[in-house]
Amino acid sequence: MPGLITMDDLTNDEIISILDDAEKLLPVAKGELYLPLLQGRILGNLFFEPSTRTRMSFETAMKRLGGDVVNLGDVKTSSVVKGETLFDTIQMVDGYTDIIAMRHPRQGAAQYACDSARVPILNGGDGAGHHPTQTMLDLFTIRQAHGTLEGLNVVLAGDLRYGRTVHSLSHALVRFGCNVTFASPDSLRMPEEIVADLKAHGAEVVETDDLLGQIGNADVIYMTRIQKERFPDEDEYAKVAGAYKLQASDLDGAKADMIIMHPLPRVDEIHPSVDSTRHARYFEQAFNGVVARMALMCWLLGVKVPEDVTKEGVVL
Ligand code: CP
Repeated sequence: MPGLITMDDLTNDEIISILDDAEKLLPVAKGELYLPLLQGRILGNLFFEPSTRTRMSFETAMKRLGGDVVNLGDVKTSSVVKGETLFDTIQMVDGYTDIIAMRHPRQGAAQYACDSARVPILNGGDGAGHHPTQTMLDLFTIRQAHGTLEGLNVVLAGDLRYGRTVHSLSHALVRFGCNVTFASPDSLRMPEEIVADLKAHGAEVVETDDLLGQIGNADVIYMTRIQKERFPDEDEYAKVAGAYKLQASDLDGAKADMIIMHPLPRVDEIHPSVDSTRHARYFEQAFNGVVARMALMCWLLGVKVPEDVTKEGVVL
């Protein structure tokens, strides 16, 4: 069954078409218009790792489109604690639902689920692997700010080794001809196989540990949290914790339309002083998870988003 496991599952034309659908659905996501495109459909939320935004925005997206949601809930209160395998869990849940959003600590788990499921699987994050639905909302946010995805200077900063959002996003950006700069401590550099893949797509990849030196030329700065939970050793985490702490005063030389993004949650890598600057875009970015996931579910379920949603929807 088709699903969305990595960004390789979408062509550039499909990405643009889904982003266009997401744009049309903005009044529905905001609760201004009721448009039950997914009435009668059920989303299964299977989150084997903590989540606020991905789980809740999937749920909001399905409900705003008139569908319903069932949740595995806290793994500790599910039959996973009795030893049920992922394979068996998927066999059950795809009988209960029409589409599944899944997050799992093991890299590759979403592909494994997709291979045995009868309904589409949306990968909501698999370990340090991929997070393609996040990439779709990231691309939506970038296009909203800059009017294009092409040829932008994008700096991805922080934990590039374990951060799955930047693995998926860098791949998509390069496919749209963006210039990517990776800013990280040496021990958290982008994995070699990802850098090699980007170069194979024709990208010139710049790697540095100097984040502040990149600010003046950037159209987008994408900050990430250091993924404490993925470090095998607390001492290794302690060496890089707090490596980057962006403050409002660091942005004096930035382009006027430069945006700062973050998949969230943040810890200390963006100081609250940045929140009130013209550059901060991370809370809008989190909201955009609703439209992006609405459009993705419509696409995977074969439901066409009308050209003019205002003609089909009910004003609330
Ligand atoms: N961006 C993101 O994946 O956030 P959550 O971990 O809260 O889902």
